[in-house]
Amino acid sequence: PLGLAFPDGFGWGAATSAYQIEGAAKDDGRGESVWDTFSHTPGCTKNGDTGDVAVDHYHRYPEDLDLMRGLGLRSYRFSISWSRVQADGTGAPNQRGLDFYRRIVDGLLERGIEPMATLYHWDTPQALQDRGGWESRDTAYRFADYTEHVYAALGDSVPVWLTINEPKTVVQNGYITGHHAPGKRDKPLAYQVAHHLQLGHGLAVQALRATGSASRIGPAFNLHPCYPADDSAAAAAATRLFDGYENRLYLDSALRGHYPEDVLADQGPDSPLVRSIRDGDLAVISSPVDLLAVQYYTPIYVTADGGTEQRHATTKAFWQQIYPDGMYDILTRVTRDYGPVPLTVTENGLPCPDVLGPEDDIDDVERVAFLRDHFAAAHRAIADGVPLESYHVWSLLDNFEWDQGYDERWGLVYVDYATQRRFLKRSALWYKRVIADNTV
Ligand code: FCB
Repeated sequence: PLGLAFPDGFGWGAATSAYQIEGAAKDDGRGESVWDTFSHTPGCTKNGDTGDVAVDHYHRYPEDLDLMRGLGLRSYRFSISWSRVQADGTGAPNQRGLDFYRRIVDGLLERGIEPMATLYHWDTPQALQDRGGWESRDTAYRFADYTEHVYAALGDSVPVWLTINEPKTVVQNGYITGHHAPGKRDKPLAYQVAHHLQLGHGLAVQALRATGSASRIGPAFNLHPCYPADDSAAAAAATRLFDGYENRLYLDSALRGHYPEDVLADQGPDSPLVRSIRDGDLAVISSPVDLLAVQYYTPIYVTADGGTEQRHATTKAFWQQIYPDGMYDILTRVTRDYGPVPLTVTENGLPCPDVLGPEDDIDDVERVAFLRDHFAAAHRAIADGVPLESYHVWSLLDNFEWDQGYDERWGLVYVDYATQRRFLKRSALWYKRVIADNTV
């Protein structure tokens, strides 16, 4: 133990998302999402894995809620599946879908765990994708409509709402590299998608305000601290623009009401991004929020030619380098540049080659060290004035890691996929102590 005490009432938590854990892909009127389509397309996911069953959380949620209570979690971040609430993304809500989330929320509250719900974690209803998905401005309005149904059913029972999980990942992985749903490769179009995601965020904030709810709301951005790979002027300039695309595109529009000039100039006046912006959009996008959710996994080192370079140990995730100071840097930077908005860390974690041992033990010492070092960095940020109120480890359970399928295990809790039995990893037992002591 490092002996780092956290502020009283610090919100120790864990995070999941609907498609990654729920399974029950056809239950109770759920419609298909882009991730059903993508994962069922040959060659799109490792081993052809899909979220059809995932960790069967839809049926096993009572056991999972008990696991959370056992760990002493104070906060649990989950997401709501749009196509459970509106099978084809429009129209009257599906009560059976909403009832599932009511059971989750009530189950959390009964166990003294604060629910934190994400409205969109990448699972666009396929029927909307068939009409253009986030390429289409209309999807932002459909999203606002969906959020109204969700607020009507759950609004005040969920004290913290998050709008859109990692818009940047949809833009980059869904529309540039194409290794996530909907699997497109169209870089100019990707930034039109970015604008519509941001618009959807702003409309969802306004929709919550319109209900008069006292619940809080904010965006969830994966932020990547960008560092120059050398001390040349060219590397500094390339890093600045890289940062524009990784961070400021989202932060500036949501928190300052304008897109960064360097990104707009780089896109050009005839770009889909610039052409999709209408009068008043930035005012909607920058509707005041109550908190900002930060997800941090890795730094990026930018070379003079605008490429990237590896500096630190990598992990089982090809894109991740281990750099705990990056957590400190990004939290302090966000507070300095966009403060004093309260912050929550909504994701941070490490994939490990976990194996179930003879005593049902999983000895994930690397994950314990990773979390300890990142918690310590967050502690240092708090000590330096960052208003960080909670921290959610990705993930509560091993789950469907998108294109990597079940091959990457990110959980505090191990899942034996053949039997769906859950086992606490060493990291879960360690985290339980951290929470109980409120000290790392
Ligand atoms: C984040 C996603 C989350 C999970 C982790 C590893 O980008 O939000 O669903 O895949 O990465």
